[in-house]
Amino acid sequence: MSVQIGNLLKVSFLRLAILLIETIGLMLHDTEIVPNRLVILRLNRGKIMTDVVTILTCLPEIPQRWRPPRLKAQSLIQTDADGWQSSGDAEVSKLVQELTNASTAVLYELILITQQATWGGEEGQFLNLGWLMQFLNSRKAVTFNFLERLLTQAMKLLLPSKDATLSPAQAVLLFQQFSVLRTLLQHSSIISVHIRSSYYEEFRYYVQSPHIVNKLPAAFPITRNTFQLIEEVLKHVLQSKVSIN
Ligand SMILES: *[C@@H]1O[C@H](CO)[C@@H](O)[C@H](O)[C@H]1NC(C)=O
Repeated sequence: MSVQIGNLLKVSFLRLAILLIETIGLMLHDTEIVPNRLVILRLNRGKIMTDVVTILTCLPEIPQRWRPPRLKAQSLIQTDADGWQSSGDAEVSKLVQELTNASTAVLYELILITQQATWGGEEGQFLNLGWLMQFLNSRKAVTFNFLERLLTQAMKLLLPSKDATLSPAQAVLLFQQFSVLRTLLQHSSIISVHIRSSYYEEFRYYVQSPHIVNKLPAAFPITRNTFQLIEEVLKHVLQSKVSIN
């Protein structure tokens, strides 16, 4: 198979994956009043739920070299596109980021569902937040990879350069990213230890920074909540009390 056809396939595959994830997101979000969505998620003792979480956190089969670079201060300054353009694959890079955006939004919805739902009944303990955390913990490598992609996207939104203020859509994504992070940090010690040991500096230099107050206009309804989320996440990661505004 020629490189070009290989790339075309990869691009189509990623586009399809993004579309599917966005569809799952719409179904979860827009059917809030339909109790059936819970029944469906529980089918086959949660097999569907397991599949959905797997789809959200995995990257489709993309060769190693297409994966985003490690998140270190250096790679934040150099954009992904810089690295991937040279290999002619800025488009794949952009689609992976888009996929990560979409997955983050759906994972946020799923966390809300597991938190809100009283799964009760004899099947008891299962498909609640504890179950979700256990599942994510049991697939550590995949979960850590997903977190790396999520954090790369979050740090990009918080970079001091770029546009001074976020657009409403970016503000919503930032809220979802930090909401997912907070839940994982609070409920999984494996993830918490990993984030603290791998991304301490990133949080210290890019998140705990005076400029981020200017990123979110006071007029956005979610601004206050987002700052509160960011403070809570910082408290977990830096292990000290932090006030950002
Ligand atoms: C990810 O989402 C944010 C907010 O909507 C957007 O600004 C950014 O361009 C998205 N990234 C990609 C690659 O689509």
